[in-house]
Amino acid sequence: MTLLIFLLLLANSGAAVSLTGYFWHITDVHWDPDYKVTDNPWAVCPSASEPVRNPGKWGSYLCDSPWALINSSIYAMKDIFPNPNFIIWTGDDTPHIPNEKLSDEAVLRMIGNVSQLIQHVFPDTKVYAAMGNHDIHPKSQFPATGHVIYNRTAELWTHWLDGRSIPTFLKGAFYTEKLPNREGQRMIILNTNFYYNRNALTADLSDPAGQFQWFEDVLSRALTAGEKVYIIGHIPPGFFEKKRGTHWFQEHFNKRYLEIIQKHSQVIAGQFFGHQHRDSFKIFYSNNGSPVSAMFIAPAVTPWKTTLAGLQDGSQNPGIRLFEYNTDTLQILDMVTYYLNLTFANIQAPRWVKEYRLTEAFQVPDGTAESMQTVLDKLSWDKCHLQKYYEYNSVSYDLGECNDQCRTDHICAIKEVDYTRYKNCIKSGGSSKMNEMCLLLCFSMLSLSILVFAYS
Ligand SMILES: *[C@@H]1O[C@H](CO)[C@@H](O)[C@H](O)[C@H]1NC(C)=O
Ligand SMILES: *[C@@H]1O[C@H](CO)[C@@H](O)[C@H](O)[C@H]1NC(C)=O
Ligand SMILES: *[C@@H]1O[C@H](CO)[C@@H](O)[C@H](O)[C@H]1NC(C)=O
Ligand SMILES: *[C@@H]1O[C@H](CO)[C@@H](O)[C@H](O)[C@H]1NC(C)=O
Ligand SMILES: [Zn+2]
Ligand SMILES: [Zn+2]
Repeated sequence: MTLLIFLLLLANSGAAVSLTGYFWHITDVHWDPDYKVTDNPWAVCPSASEPVRNPGKWGSYLCDSPWALINSSIYAMKDIFPNPNFIIWTGDDTPHIPNEKLSDEAVLRMIGNVSQLIQHVFPDTKVYAAMGNHDIHPKSQFPATGHVIYNRTAELWTHWLDGRSIPTFLKGAFYTEKLPNREGQRMIILNTNFYYNRNALTADLSDPAGQFQWFEDVLSRALTAGEKVYIIGHIPPGFFEKKRGTHWFQEHFNKRYLEIIQKHSQVIAGQFFGHQHRDSFKIFYSNNGSPVSAMFIAPAVTPWKTTLAGLQDGSQNPGIRLFEYNTDTLQILDMVTYYLNLTFANIQAPRWVKEYRLTEAFQVPDGTAESMQTVLDKLSWDKCHLQKYYEYNSVSYDLGECNDQCRTDHICAIKEVDYTRYKNCIKSGGSSKMNEMCLLLCFSMLSLSILVFAYS
């Protein structure tokens, strides 16, 4: 009898273990091949927009990544969790330098070097790779009609790409594949660089390379086939929380993206993006206001200080991210961000450590849209949670206080992907309702303590 119970327990725990899968998300490595450690503050790296003092072997907060940092990040993934079910990689491999200093060949060489490194360290792991706006020449100019860089990148990625992905990849660098060794689970890799407001080649098109139509078709077929899907891409829709009113997509593209997610949210188990060099997330809602999908935006490997005008403290520590998911449903179970304290690395040694675990830091059961809504609610009314989230946003680089304006910018960027709704959200200071709730809560707790005091 005891043995039977023991065996049952064993079988049970076995089942539980096999239900949890893992994948790494890495993004925005931005290699600066000319980075060097020197006393001349103007000669450290061409990617910096100001003189660089005290550069270290592992990089500088003003520069894009030296190779040593990129190499360290990929080996850290291998050290921390060597056998993920797959890896997602959302692009941007080249430095922030003028177009005149780059070329098709230079861009391709850098994509090739980073791809080779990932393949070398994870030879048997499936990688789903998306192109970033810095993975083309000139920057951000992705044509809707094919490009030699799409062709050559497809060659660099033959190790990972299914042959059936090639036609759409050559047309516009997007594709879809089933998850490894699984039925009913699918990855959709988008080229959202088409929707970037700096892409002059697609500005006048309604559906560049037919990607939206294709995206909808894939999602409709997924519903019919009973599949669940993950969506990955480089540039996210909606607003950038670090600079009020800054968005990446042209408005009509943003609208279409949002409509597609709303319409097909049933089959979408998660969205994973990069580009912002910040750790944040977005929530998508149904027409009746319930949370239906969450988008996770991963921090960058590059510590580079952004040159976006008016943005303070635009650097971050290098970060990498491991997701835990249910291998049956694709439900996101948890997310752990690891980081390199660049200051510490340059003084002592490159140590990649856990920054935070989603369920621990925000006391939620998992990473579903409902749970991310709970996180958002906590950010809205609990100053401690907001402050914690704010520090993670720059990967524990900017530890300053998140004031009221900062709170509004973050809350509205998370909650409102739609442009008009975002503007209204900003106008109303995030959400006055939440403030009232907080007041109400504080007030009722106060009166409760007075009551307790009076009766004791
Ligand atoms: C990359 O990192 C690994 C592991 O730390 C190290 O053994 C190797 O020498 C590094 N290679 C380069 C080119 O930095
Ligand atoms: C990058 O790739 C080129 C070949 O395209 C090779 O010559 C070079 O050594 C590589 N650099 C690194 C750092 O891997
Ligand atoms: C890319 O490859 C396809 C298929 O081989 C070919 O038809 C097309 O001309 C190539 N495009 C460019 C820009 O090289
Ligand atoms: C990073 O390392 C530096 C130097 O050891 C230290 O002063 C700083 O507090 C560390 N930052 C974090 C967030 O731990
Ligand atoms: Zn980037
Ligand atoms: Zn980018």
